[in-house]
Parts: sequence; C-alpha cells; structure tokens
Amino acid sequence: MMASPLRLLLIEDFEDDALIVLRELRRGGYDVTCTRVETAEALERALDTGPWDAIIADYALPRFDALAAFSLVQKRGLDIPFLIVSGQIGEDTAVAAMRAGVHDFLLKDRLGRLGPAVARELREAALRTERRKMQEQLLLSDRLASLGLLAASVAHEINNPLASLMANLEFVLNPDEGDGPVQASSLPAEQQQALRDCHLCAVRIRDIVRDIKVFSRTDDKQRGPLDVHRVLDSSLRMAWNHIFHRARIVKDYAAHAPVLGNEAPLGQVFLNLLVNAAQAIPEGHTTPQEIRVVTRQEGTSHVRVEIHDTGRGIPPELQDRIFDPFFTTKPAGVGTGLGLAICRRLVDELGGELGVKSALGQGTVFHLRLPTAHDVNGPRNSFTQG
Ligand SMILES: Nc1ncnc2c1ncn2[C@@H]1O[C@H](COP(=O)(O)OP(=O)(O)O)[C@@H](O)[C@H]1O
Ligand SMILES: [Mg+2]
Repeated sequence: MMASPLRLLLIEDFEDDALIVLRELRRGGYDVTCTRVETAEALERALDTGPWDAIIADYALPRFDALAAFSLVQKRGLDIPFLIVSGQIGEDTAVAAMRAGVHDFLLKDRLGRLGPAVARELREAALRTERRKMQEQLLLSDRLASLGLLAASVAHEINNPLASLMANLEFVLNPDEGDGPVQASSLPAEQQQALRDCHLCAVRIRDIVRDIKVFSRTDDKQRGPLDVHRVLDSSLRMAWNHIFHRARIVKDYAAHAPVLGNEAPLGQVFLNLLVNAAQAIPEGHTTPQEIRVVTRQEGTSHVRVEIHDTGRGIPPELQDRIFDPFFTTKPAGVGTGLGLAICRRLVDELGGELGVKSALGQGTVFHLRLPTAHDVNGPRNSFTQG
C-alpha cells in the first residue's frame, strides 16, 4: 500500500517522544512531514503557515499545555483533527479534554492505535468539510434563486412604464409614421437632439431589462428552441465591463439550428465562461488579447459553442479540478469557485456537454455541445422532452 502524505503539527518537547509518534504514524501507513513546536508563539507561527492535516499534542509541556493549544486552534476556527498524547493522567482529565472537543486522547504506552485513530479523524474531518460545503452551496443557490425572482419582478415592473415612455417619445419624434428614422420637424434642432438622446437611453434601458430577464430564473424548467447567438450576445453585453479593458471580442458565428434549452441557465453558463476568460487575461497588457466566440453546426443534432481566450491557461494538473465546487485560484472576493461547477450542472441539465482544452501561457478553450431543437419534430419522433 502506498503511504499517504500527512502534514503533521506536533506539539511536543521531548525529542524521543516525538520520534515514537512519528514511528507509529509511519507504521500506520503515513508519509509524515512534521513540524514540531513547544510554545504558544511557535504554534501561532506554524498555524499561520499551514495547512495542516492533523495536530498531535503532548498533554503537559513545561511552558504550554495541550488544552491551551487546542483553544488557540479553535479560536482560529480551524477544523483540524486534534489528538492528545499523554503519559500518566487520570480518567477525568481525559474526559475533560474530550468534552472540550479534542478528537482523541491516547496514552503514551498504548500508541499502537495512533495510526488508526488519525485515519478515523481524517475521514471524519473530510466528511465535516463536505457537509459544510454542501450547506454553503445550498444557501448560495437559494440566494441566487431568490435574487433571480426579485430581478425578474423588477424587470417586469419596469417594462410597462418603459413601453409607454418609448411609445410617447416615438410619437413626438415621429408623429406620422410608426417606424423609420426619428424626426420631429416642428421642434428646434437642439430639442430634437435631446429627444433623440432620450430615445437612445430608453432603448438602452429596454436592452438591459431584456438581459435581466434572460438571467432571472423564473421559467427554468421550460425548454424551447433558442437562438444561441441571441443568448451569446446578451451574455457578451453583460460581461462587457469585465472584457473591454483586457481583450477585444471576435465573433465567429456559423451555427444555424436553434438549440433546445432555456435562456436563463444558458445565458448564465455563457456569462460565467466569458467572465472567467476575461479574468484569465491580465489588465493593462501590451500585446493584443482576444476572446473569440465560435459557434458551429454539428450535423442536425448538435450545436458546438467555443469560448477561446488568450489568457494565462490552466496547468494540466488542475484541469480536472476546476469543475469542482469551491475550487478557485482567485483571491477571496474575486472567485468563489462555483462558476464552472454551476456551468457543468446547467449544461448537464440541458443534455449537453462542457469541456476544456488549455495550454499554459497560451490560452484556454471551453467547448460546449448543445442538442438542437430539430430532433423534436425530426426523424426520431420518439424523442421526448424531459
Ligand atoms: N478561461 C480560463 N483561463 C484560465 N483559468 C481558468 C479559466 N476558467 C476557469 N479557470 C480556472 O478555474 C477556476 C475555477 O473557475 P470557476 O469555477 O469559474 O471559479 P472562480 O472563477 O470563482 O475561481 C478559476 O479559479 C481558474 O483558476
Ligand atoms: Mg468564475
């Protein structure tokens, strides 16, 4: 069996005792990297430089003790398996330590069970972390869902007065015809210009409201034929603030079949991928940087969408992990690590596929395969919507 790596923080003053602990852990199948500390200050420094997989503390040290060490770890909100090893002490001391939340308490003359005890605590800590992450993700998706609802109702409320505003502006500017270039010949030129500016602003508001509706998720379950280019354009407009000072956008659209899906989730997928692409490109570059959006028809059954960037690329060893929830290489406040996890789930739900190809230092391509709506009435009549 291969030894599993273990980053151990050992709080122990006796070299000999430390060696015994290490020997037991190696016997238990661990490849231990150990830092040994004896004082509170040294412990603080070591905690600063973590991460640690486990902490083992001698119960009584000349200048420090295990329970004080444990409360330091707890104060930092760290959930690291913490085991106490000690010589002769009473049962009530052990009970008190366990009550305080220490994970296990072992006697120095019975260290045979140290390996299995550490293994168990590592498993439990991993489970706790997993549970915590799931809970956070649930909370977040709840919040996103209610934000979406709120946005949808705001957009809806804005639509009616906006429609009337635009109709009136168009009437003043263009009293005779419904469509065509706006003119208001009876008004002085500056006033005409002011009204035309108002009309442009209203058009802009209408586009923003339309984009918000794309991203609010009220009709998630409904699927219909979608113009993938319209959704892409809407996402490009939303991502514009992230993109324009880093890269130019190149559109290479050649797909023609409508895809089967729903605008809100698909728009969110494109937006996440575009923002990631922008964030992979450093600001203030000198060489020309590019984000290229490509669509292609794949037979009648699929549309392929690719989002290329000329950013920093993804190291091969990370390419599997980037889709994991909470995996991020970005500083807190910039990245949550949820973007790609959400993308993958949404694309799965649409019956599509999402993958990545990347070369370090050269750029990245995220590619999607989306089923078209053609099959619904096409030769395979047995196709049913899920
Ligand atoms: N286009 C890209 N170029 C380089 N790295 C990327 C790209 N897209 C995603 N990544 C990497 O994948 C990680 C996870 O992305 P994501 O799930 O969207 O979370 P976040 O953007 O919040 O970090 C990013 O932190 C980054 O390291
Ligand atoms: Mg992201």
